[in-house]
Amino acid sequence: MPQLGLGVWQASDEETERVVRFAIDEAGYRHIDTARAYGNEEGVGRAIASASVPREDLFVTTKLWNSDHGRSRTLTAVDASLSRLGLDYLDLFLIHWPLGDRDRLVETWLAMEEILESGKAQAIGVCNHEPHHLDWILEGGSVVPAVNQIELHPRLPQWVSRAFDDSHGIVTESWSPLGGTSNSGWGGDSKPNTLLTDETLVSIGEQYGKTPAQVMIRWHLQNGLVVIPKSTHEERIRQNIDVLDFELTGADIERIAQLETGERVGYHPDDFV
Ligand code: A2P
Repeated sequence: MPQLGLGVWQASDEETERVVRFAIDEAGYRHIDTARAYGNEEGVGRAIASASVPREDLFVTTKLWNSDHGRSRTLTAVDASLSRLGLDYLDLFLIHWPLGDRDRLVETWLAMEEILESGKAQAIGVCNHEPHHLDWILEGGSVVPAVNQIELHPRLPQWVSRAFDDSHGIVTESWSPLGGTSNSGWGGDSKPNTLLTDETLVSIGEQYGKTPAQVMIRWHLQNGLVVIPKSTHEERIRQNIDVLDFELTGADIERIAQLETGERVGYHPDDFV
């Protein structure tokens, strides 16, 4: 799984087609993260179909929406996502939110295992799962989720979830890795992104000629996290993958640790039950 990918949440279908094609053909991205709920799987699909990179060199993730939990809906939903994407397999299929019902989650997970077995997804995993949700799956299923994609950025480093994921061999993937959009949140809150102008991140970046966004992406990479920054601006898409020519020091990482506040930009998993 490429450790750095492009996220497309809150990008329209048309915009997504443009930015995904640019990201693949011009900026060198090989990993695209979408979801049923983003309403732009078709745009991702059109971009992939017209990009100059072969399908097998790309890593494509999509997600099962909340209304599709349960065995039969899950099995139907993967086919619908594949059809919108114009693909015959996904690299990774994720349950978007755990919801609060243990039996329903386990039933859904067992359907995800069927999808894995069928080859329609090469890997299966989850998003927004707290350790207790993962326990339900670990106890009720037979395949360990490959990935847990959670809100994670310097204000919310998610130590507990990461330790749990690590102890089970689950890769932690960061959503809203830059602290989210300026008007982000399915909660409808308008929370300005203060990390992109944070003075600690600015001053760390100045040492390397890098922006706060690049410092944060590097922080995710050096923490062993998979990271999917979203941008619809070509310059930023290029900038966000241009992070392989510098390294944060231990002192930089300690300064970034001071930014932890526990603040979220999106929903807490328990808000969706
Ligand atoms: P835009 O798409 O207008 O470029 P997330 O943390 O969810 O990945 O949010 C990223 C947010 O930060 C988006 O609103 C995106 O806006 C913006 N963004 C992404 N990359 C950069 C960058 N390199 N510099 C400044 N803003 C960025």
